[in-house]
Amino acid sequence: MRKITVAPSVLSLDYAHFNEQCKALEKSEAQWCHFDVMDGHFVPNLTFGPDILKGFRKACPTLFMDVHLMIEDPEMFISRFHAAGADLISFHVEAVKDKAKIHELIHKIHELGLQAGLVIKPKTDAHVLDEFLEEIDLVLIMSVEPGFGGQSFMEDQLDKVRYLRRIIDEKQISCVIEIDGGINDVTAKKAIEAGVDVLVAGSYVFKGDIEENVRKLLP
Ligand code: DX5
Ligand code: ZN
Repeated sequence: MRKITVAPSVLSLDYAHFNEQCKALEKSEAQWCHFDVMDGHFVPNLTFGPDILKGFRKACPTLFMDVHLMIEDPEMFISRFHAAGADLISFHVEAVKDKAKIHELIHKIHELGLQAGLVIKPKTDAHVLDEFLEEIDLVLIMSVEPGFGGQSFMEDQLDKVRYLRRIIDEKQISCVIEIDGGINDVTAKKAIEAGVDVLVAGSYVFKGDIEENVRKLLP
């Protein structure tokens, strides 16, 4: 059985109870923390910058910081999120039109000693990832339109997961598959069955008992 990782998305954290919720995350079986960066251009919402990541790094010292950039110019912020404590940085292929530039940014992330990931939106064909799979550490399939938490899971995105699982296993590539959007105890099972390794979950984890909710996502 593959190892399944839960990555709670702190987009849905209750910021009036920051310390308590970070402690609950640390105590839970979640090993990652998913940090959604939005710039109000690439997606119609605004979230956090590197200084906030620094705060999370201190509040959740044992969690692997998974930074999901939903911004128009990922290049501009890679080194600043590195300095702020990111362990992995992923960016959208839709934000970087030139393929040579995508290779260059993956290389830049690796040079900083971080893991690199590529993300695709629901309308983007999974085949755009083909030429990068052997270079990256993670591929992130969006199962909602990026921008907001609490949306419904788009089940048709699981076809992309099945395709990637097959290619990754056949070629024995060491790239993990992450899914993001609309994950709850029911959709998590479907995603795992389709071949996902890392489950991002925001609203589901932070509504009620964090530790219990994380546990319910695991097989
Ligand atoms: C959406 C973000 C997600 C979001 C998921 O653009 O990338 O990480 O927090 O939220 P839920 O789990 O509530 O769909
Ligand atoms: Zn995300």
